[in-house]
Amino acid sequence: MNAMLTSLAAAGQPLRAQSGHDFWMPPQASTVAPHIDGLFNIILAISAFFFVLIVVLMIVFIMKYRAERPGDEALSQVEHNTPLEITWTVIPLILVCFIFWWGFKGYLDLVTSPGNASSIQVTAQKWSWLFSYPNGYSDAELHVPVDTPIKLVMSSQDVIHSFFCPAFRVKMDVLPGRYTSAWFTATTPGEYQVFCAEFCGKDHSNMLSKVVVHTAADYQQWLDKAANWMVALPPAEAGAILYKKYGCKQCHTVDGSANTGPTFKALFGTKQPLKDGGTVLVDENYVRESILEPNAHVAAGFEPVMPTFKGRIKDEEIGAVIEYLRSLK
Ligand code: CUA
Repeated sequence: MNAMLTSLAAAGQPLRAQSGHDFWMPPQASTVAPHIDGLFNIILAISAFFFVLIVVLMIVFIMKYRAERPGDEALSQVEHNTPLEITWTVIPLILVCFIFWWGFKGYLDLVTSPGNASSIQVTAQKWSWLFSYPNGYSDAELHVPVDTPIKLVMSSQDVIHSFFCPAFRVKMDVLPGRYTSAWFTATTPGEYQVFCAEFCGKDHSNMLSKVVVHTAADYQQWLDKAANWMVALPPAEAGAILYKKYGCKQCHTVDGSANTGPTFKALFGTKQPLKDGGTVLVDENYVRESILEPNAHVAAGFEPVMPTFKGRIKDEEIGAVIEYLRSLK
């Protein structure tokens, strides 16, 4: 139990840099966090107050009105008390209305992003996250500037996922075939854990990422540098990074072991049998086709489950992935 509590508490910790957090909550690293924690605490306090009150009264009444000898008759039976019934109807009604008002106000704030929020596109797929920035750069981690409203525009390539950042108190389902959105303003630079909070298959629990909150100047520097990261690298090395970034590694190993998709080890340049019969030469064209139209020629022994990367991966990135496959002898 203690180990479980410790790991639950660890789940909400920032990966680096501590900011204020209390006994059982993750740190509050966004502007909405105090509001949500306040509501949580008030509901907890109300529940605890009435739980203690009712249990104490029950014990007092059991002691006070117990039968003193076996077979004792009750002295009186109260069947109705109008003032009492009005009291215990009106008080909970007021409490529930208050909680609804507080919760609904917070809900409206959470679903309405400020007009000046900058958008970042989020693409979820089994089992990775991809964040695309306004300058065209994509990354498996979410980088944001501090004190700036950020709107996440999210969609899924396959099944339902859910973007969850406990430190921001932000959780939103990510659906195939439509966009959902969530927004936040990060208040403290640092790194925070991101989870997938919707069971989405075998590697759901590994569908992790992180949010890196930069100061405004650092963010601009990071973005400028990130946009040109491929220029400085040999294509095969860039391909190895893309292999992780686009989530290829969730299904394709490079050590020869079996997974959801064929291993990449010593694959390039070989002839492979296809699911529908015939064979294919794994060359530049086949790799490119498999990335853009994965189900056109599925390898024998595998299911057509890979999502397309059309519109997400750039031509020079496909070239780098091809060079990476070529290097895996
Ligand atoms: Cu994606 Cu769980």
